[in-house]
Amino acid sequence: MPKSSPYVLYGRMDRECPTIITRGKGVHIFDEDGKSYLDAVGGIGVVNIGHGVEEVVKTISDQARTLAFSYGGSVDNIPRRELARKLQQWAPSGMGETQTFFCSGGAEANEAALKIAYQYHWERGNQNKQVVIGRWQSYHGNTIATLAMGGRTQWRRMHNPYLLNFPHIPPPYCYRCPWGHNYPGCDLVCAHDLRRVIRQIGGENVAAFIAEPIIGTSMTAVAPPPEYYPIIRDICDEYDVRLIVDEVITGIGRTGEKWGIDHWQVTPDIITTGKGLSSGYSPLAAAILREEVWQAIASGSQKVMHSYTYGGNPLSCAVGLAVLNYIEDHDLVTRSKQMGDKLLGALQREMGDLPWVGQVRGVGLLIGVELVADRLTKDPFPIDWNVTQRVVESSFDRGLLIAGGMAGLIDGVAGDHIQLSPPYVMEDEHLDFIVRTLSDSISTVVAESKGEWRVGGVIADLPACETCVACERHQATPESSSLPTCSQTRSPAAVPAPGLFC
Ligand SMILES: Cc1ncc(COP(=O)(O)O)c(C=O)c1O
Repeated sequence: MPKSSPYVLYGRMDRECPTIITRGKGVHIFDEDGKSYLDAVGGIGVVNIGHGVEEVVKTISDQARTLAFSYGGSVDNIPRRELARKLQQWAPSGMGETQTFFCSGGAEANEAALKIAYQYHWERGNQNKQVVIGRWQSYHGNTIATLAMGGRTQWRRMHNPYLLNFPHIPPPYCYRCPWGHNYPGCDLVCAHDLRRVIRQIGGENVAAFIAEPIIGTSMTAVAPPPEYYPIIRDICDEYDVRLIVDEVITGIGRTGEKWGIDHWQVTPDIITTGKGLSSGYSPLAAAILREEVWQAIASGSQKVMHSYTYGGNPLSCAVGLAVLNYIEDHDLVTRSKQMGDKLLGALQREMGDLPWVGQVRGVGLLIGVELVADRLTKDPFPIDWNVTQRVVESSFDRGLLIAGGMAGLIDGVAGDHIQLSPPYVMEDEHLDFIVRTLSDSISTVVAESKGEWRVGGVIADLPACETCVACERHQATPESSSLPTCSQTRSPAAVPAPGLFC
């Protein structure tokens, strides 16, 4: 069988076709040769309840036999009604009686949230409130409007001419605070910056602020301090700005609470969800509206100016309901927290001291490993080393499926990170395999990259660099002069030689 199909437009044409996966069960997937891989990223933050769950498979078959499709714009169906009711039970209580708009993917949900947030203001006579403020290094989807709200530089660049002129504030990235502050002595400038931007644009022009409560694929598992979202909520209220929380990754228990925003006990105006809502068994996403939001439309034009053909189709909604029931029946949100705490602790113990692991962070089972060339300076690896991709490939060869976080978490261009988001049903033995394999892969890739590096930061067989005597734990070779600067050699008094990376 040829390695790639001539009929598929692959996202990456510069590499061999991805391995063909033919089957999945529990936390494992299997390729066409029968080799198994531990799916430590749940597809891409999707497969929360595991692969091949019989209860869901039966629901699919029963529902397909009964009614696979009816168009929600003209008629209703039972699964849609039941799933909307279930989501009302799942939503933060402050949202009141929620109503839910269904669609097929996260970008659709966020685009719907944008339109509904604007319509909310429109219904109330505030037609000028059109601007949505987002955050850099956030991702809300790949349509033009969602790319514009998001701040993923790599994917925005080519399509810039089409993007709406939406402003962004910096992310709450304490590990590398954009203002150079340290929490808690920072006065939460990152949250208060929202006020500054709203005032500059004019509150009368701002419809909404959108954020991933805990950042996903663009800046894996970066979570702001406890004060952040309460401040954001207050600012939104002050300027009549709707707060949209994009829970496409963080929702449905991924972070050990039903919703990521629950960690801050803040009430959003719109929650968007997708991915784990169906756990990958069928395309499904949703925008859940706070009572006040849908009421504005209900007591105004009474027409939601937005719709998708597959939105609320009975098959996907039946799947969503079965998945939520399964999560409740097996108490999987609690499990996500417990296994997340264990996995995070084990990763921190195993890799916390590796010189190229800058930070291991996570909330529940959304975990990120930020890789750095030097832990002291937090200098990133040179971009063309492709460290993230190589760690992903090295892990894959060892039977571990992880995801490379989007390049550019530091400034849109540089920065390496790994995403782990395994199914909540993982066991201790899987945890051990993940930790061991990822650690080996990182060590191998960095050692390969540097030739002279050794695991653990000890470079035994190489001569110490004479110009690097001031450096406590680094040594260098003459060839390393093309590498980035060693933190310890920055002082000209200590080190006359340029560019030593030890
Ligand atoms: C936080 C977040 N929002 C939105 C999306 C877009 O979802 P989809 O790819 O289903 O359109 C993603 C996808 O990764 C995401 O992580």
